[in-house]
Amino acid sequence: MSGATKVGIIGLGKYLPEKVLTNADLERLVDTSDEWITERCGIKERRIARPDEATSDMALAAARQAMAQAGITGEDLDLIVVGTISPDTEFPSTACLLQGALGCRPIPAFDVAAACSGFLYALTIAESFIKSGKARRALVVAAEKLSAITDWTNRNTCVLFGDGAGAAVLSAVESGGILSSYLGTDGKHAELITQPAGGSRRPATHETVDKHLHAITMNGTEVFKIAVKTMADAALGAMNVLGVRSADEVDLIIPHQANIRIIQAVAKRVGVSLEGKVFLNIEKYGNMSAASTAVALAEAVESGRVKKGDKVVLVAFGSGLTWGALVIQL
Ligand code: ACO
Repeated sequence: MSGATKVGIIGLGKYLPEKVLTNADLERLVDTSDEWITERCGIKERRIARPDEATSDMALAAARQAMAQAGITGEDLDLIVVGTISPDTEFPSTACLLQGALGCRPIPAFDVAAACSGFLYALTIAESFIKSGKARRALVVAAEKLSAITDWTNRNTCVLFGDGAGAAVLSAVESGGILSSYLGTDGKHAELITQPAGGSRRPATHETVDKHLHAITMNGTEVFKIAVKTMADAALGAMNVLGVRSADEVDLIIPHQANIRIIQAVAKRVGVSLEGKVFLNIEKYGNMSAASTAVALAEAVESGRVKKGDKVVLVAFGSGLTWGALVIQL
């Protein structure tokens, strides 16, 4: 295949656990209120995986749906990339578990740890494999069981997160597809969102468990400020690569669903109205890290909000700090 190959999405899928955790449920766990969570974050409820349900189980369900829509089986895949920061185990990767469960040939399969930007990083990697001729069909999955790494005694974080998975099958397409990709990181701010213990810097001890250091910690206020500017710059950057000077030329913006106020501020900077051109599902699911943009894209297509030929901007931001934006023509 030549460098001019166009790579597009030929199947989408999603999986949300059945259990719904409402703001009223959280009021019984920590000192919070439905009013605070709704006004400050835009979240009303989130999904929580069963204790026996791991990230790869949710990933598998979303992957099967995307593959059915694409009309392919595991044998047709040449690559699996999973965006996650809550894998079943540190190793083997969640992608390896999927490769086994889907009955694939011995193809490359690996995870990408880019937090909330993970789906966009994974899509860009898969696009590059297909463009370079190393793969014909790739499965990209973004799956998170954040409830497993949430401190349920900390109101600053436990009201924000939820579980879920989204998946996409990529292949060469005749027209449209991924038109541009704009990724970045800034490790200077690595300490702003972390899972402090469990790695080689601070291995697990009784103390790390007692102090909830295996859960997500975040300086929300700092993250908020950087997220607004960086997400807007990324969305505009991905459009500018294509010579798109105004958001009027795209049909829908699908932002990472971390906080309604971040999304409002990003929409203003990008020059679109929240009601007209921004996809929202934060109210139902909260922040599912990498899975947020994947589930939102699947729902935007499923609900008819995105139609064939529409140009969509996916934009995300997360721990790392990482960010990314993609313009895709469906
Ligand atoms: N219920 C009630 N009150 C609360 C809650 C809560 N759940 N959480 C915090 N508060 C209180 C605080 O204690 C504080 O009270 P004080 O003034 O008496 O000290 C007050 O509310 C304001 O707290 P702030 O932290 O300043 O609240 P803020 O408006 O910044 O909202 C939030 C916090 C929602 C976390 C916001 O900063 C945010 O969304 N940040 C960005 C998060 C994000 O984008 N993360 C991205 C990636 S996540 C990842 O990569 C895994």
